[in-house]
Amino acid sequence: MKASSVKELLTSDKFLQEITVRGWVRAFRSKRFIQINDGSTINNIQCVVDFENTEDDLLKRITTGAAVCVTGTLVESQGKGQSVEVQVNKIEILGDSNPEEYPIQPKKHSFEFLRENAHLRVRTNTFSAVMRVRSALSFAVHKYFQDNGFYYVNTPIITGSDAEGAGEMFKVTSFEHNKAPLNEEGNIDYSKDFFGKETNLTVSGQLEAETYAMGLGKVYTFGPTFRAENSNTTRHLAEFWMIEPEVAFNDLDANMDLSEDFIKGVLKYVLDTCEDDLAFLDNRLTQEEKTKPQAQRSEMSLLEKLRFVVDNNFKRVSYTEAIDILRNCKPNKKKKFDYIINEWGADLQSEHERYLVEKHFKCPVILFDYPANIKAFYMRLNEDGKTVRAMDVLFPGIGEMVGGSQREERLDVLKEKMEALGIEEEELWWYLDTRKFGTAIHSGFGLGFERLVLFTTGMSNIRDVIPFPRTPQNAEF
Ligand code: 4AD
Ligand code: MG
Repeated sequence: MKASSVKELLTSDKFLQEITVRGWVRAFRSKRFIQINDGSTINNIQCVVDFENTEDDLLKRITTGAAVCVTGTLVESQGKGQSVEVQVNKIEILGDSNPEEYPIQPKKHSFEFLRENAHLRVRTNTFSAVMRVRSALSFAVHKYFQDNGFYYVNTPIITGSDAEGAGEMFKVTSFEHNKAPLNEEGNIDYSKDFFGKETNLTVSGQLEAETYAMGLGKVYTFGPTFRAENSNTTRHLAEFWMIEPEVAFNDLDANMDLSEDFIKGVLKYVLDTCEDDLAFLDNRLTQEEKTKPQAQRSEMSLLEKLRFVVDNNFKRVSYTEAIDILRNCKPNKKKKFDYIINEWGADLQSEHERYLVEKHFKCPVILFDYPANIKAFYMRLNEDGKTVRAMDVLFPGIGEMVGGSQREERLDVLKEKMEALGIEEEELWWYLDTRKFGTAIHSGFGLGFERLVLFTTGMSNIRDVIPFPRTPQNAEF
């Protein structure tokens, strides 16, 4: 007989019919009620064994974590908490799970403990819900762009360029440690390396995506991205997934519109399709909030926050306005910030970004027109000569969700900028070609997928929204 998923059975009306279901035991109580989950849904199916007619040896093997195959009759449940249940005719243990050793017990475990057991944590309610929402979100990303005339491009993971100019790259080499050939100056001779040049894991697919936008018009990337920044925070990963749309003929306003519409679109998709998981995560967060002092509790529940973002406009504020607000705000005057904002030109830290979204505007904010010297070389210079057409989308509880810009499309201005920053023209000759041949204004942005998952699921640490996080000093699994 073809096995049914738990999800199918819970919404089925095939009462009194024989069914087969397979999954892992979540709990077994009174030698009678087995809760089985197979990952298809947050909900378990209750299977009722007739213990008087079941061998004791078999009953002993029904332990938390064991894989089982149950054949039985689907009936309307008499008990509370479920509408259907299975009266077991036959239960087969597919894989035992020694209860003395199995780390995931039917009780609350700390997220730290579960991170050490990242290979098993997806068998808990919280992590299975997070990972199903993550999957739905990534489908929603493709759906949004495909529905809106964008083409998906795969930009290289190994690259010779440093798109962000921040130098936070992991090197890619086939030289053996300590055996790299040296040149006459005593430096490593990368011309003898696998690619004949210095290469690294990409920090962004933007520069390559730009070249594709200048032919396909509207493109997006969605792929792994690597940064060797030593930021041990709840918002940074060394390996994360970035979504980067790039659109020919879009100016910064159109870029802001796209980022806002995109975020709302994908959130709406998961609100519509992940009801059970979001309800579970909403409740989880509400319980967690209750453990905090009143003043630190969020005013909105998770579902309220998601609906709020979908239903309200993001506030658009220039960097200059933001600096005025920050300079005059209480935590700045009382020196509560770690970095005090004194003058125009200061780089914003996450404490400032979060003040703006969480305390001042109380909604997502798009900051734009940043000082040129705190942003990357490729951003379009404004007429004032000191700001660039940059934009960051800031979110409550997260800080920076999106970084993007209108790109510098003028060859002479771009070359001047590169020269001032010491970026060799020979290295980016192909990038400059897009400005030589049929240049046009264009814009794009990058959205950190895990930060989006973080916001959507109400989790508080980015390590808990990616299956196997890579962070400083940690590459287990
Ligand atoms: O602001 P960033 O550095 O922008 C770029 O890389 C541009 N080239 C994007 C573009 O215009 N196409 O990074 C974009 C986003 C950030 O806003 C943040 O959400 C995420 O990527 N991000 C990280 N997420 C997790 N861990 C990290 N270490 C991240 N660094 C950036
Ligand atoms: Mg940024």
